[in-house]
Amino acid sequence: MSRLNDKVAIITGAAEGIGLAISEAFVKAGASVIMADINTAKGKREAARLSRDNRRAEYAYCDVGNTASINLLVETCVKTFGKIDVLVNNAAVAISGEITQMPDEDWDTLMNINLKGAFRTVRACLPYMISAQSGSVINISSTQAHRSWDNWTAYATAKGGLLSMTNQLAGQFGSNNIRFNSISPGTILTPMLDKRMKSEGEQFLKASIHQAAMLRCGKPEEVAMTAVFLASDEAAFINGEDIKVDGGLSTLPRYFE
Ligand SMILES: NC(=O)c1ccc[n+]([C@@H]2O[C@H](COP(=O)([O-])OP(=O)(O)OC[C@H]3O[C@@H](n4cnc5c(N)ncnc54)[C@H](O)[C@@H]3O)[C@@H](O)[C@H]2O)c1
Repeated sequence: MSRLNDKVAIITGAAEGIGLAISEAFVKAGASVIMADINTAKGKREAARLSRDNRRAEYAYCDVGNTASINLLVETCVKTFGKIDVLVNNAAVAISGEITQMPDEDWDTLMNINLKGAFRTVRACLPYMISAQSGSVINISSTQAHRSWDNWTAYATAKGGLLSMTNQLAGQFGSNNIRFNSISPGTILTPMLDKRMKSEGEQFLKASIHQAAMLRCGKPEEVAMTAVFLASDEAAFINGEDIKVDGGLSTLPRYFE
């Protein structure tokens, strides 16, 4: 039997990178998926690709930085599939900046999308999960919530907030059979990483590879398979957990050239 048969999932930031890999892995595991993103052209194309062979993936425009957009997304999911079993809070932006130079706008954007976005989706999905007495929420955090990395304080603060939110809600809603867990990826080869390489140079990639105990970057699919596990009934008693998918990046001391 497929691991996510009959489950309905909302995945944010699903048009590319890790969110797309999670969507693909979920659909292959038997789930029906709403792929939420602001990149409509890519999102529609990928949803159509994943929908082949009687599989079900629907694209929905959703800006996680906007409450009305999220409320509409959740209504659309319930109208289309009748329920929400799994929510994956994956959408995020990467903005770096030396803390003494960071404008308020950059800080606010990171908090609004990377942290408040998850609050908005959880707030909208929880009533349905509570009434079903079942649910699995997976927040995509980062190794940056666990260790220091120069000039990434704001991004890391939002990711650390996600860990606290996960813990808090896992405690509060465990008795409703709703599980909250997170995944902390290390350096994963995605369009977000491409952008960082462009802004920080090849040295960034070199340092990332040297820091990872396994001496390589991760693949989006490697994060996706952990999400499949956490969404599935195999993880029925896992609640309030953070799983690092980082090849050992956070076990090592900092790398200096
Ligand atoms: N790539 C890495 O090395 C890495 C490491 C640790 C954590 N992460 C986390 O993993 C998640 C996915 O990262 P990725 O590397 O795949 O990113 P990515 O930039 O490659 O893809 C992000 C997706 O989110 C979408 N998105 C951006 N803003 C949005 C918004 N306001 N509303 C809805 N969708 C929006 C983008 O259109 C894109 O499709 C993020 O939460 C990121 O912080 C990534």
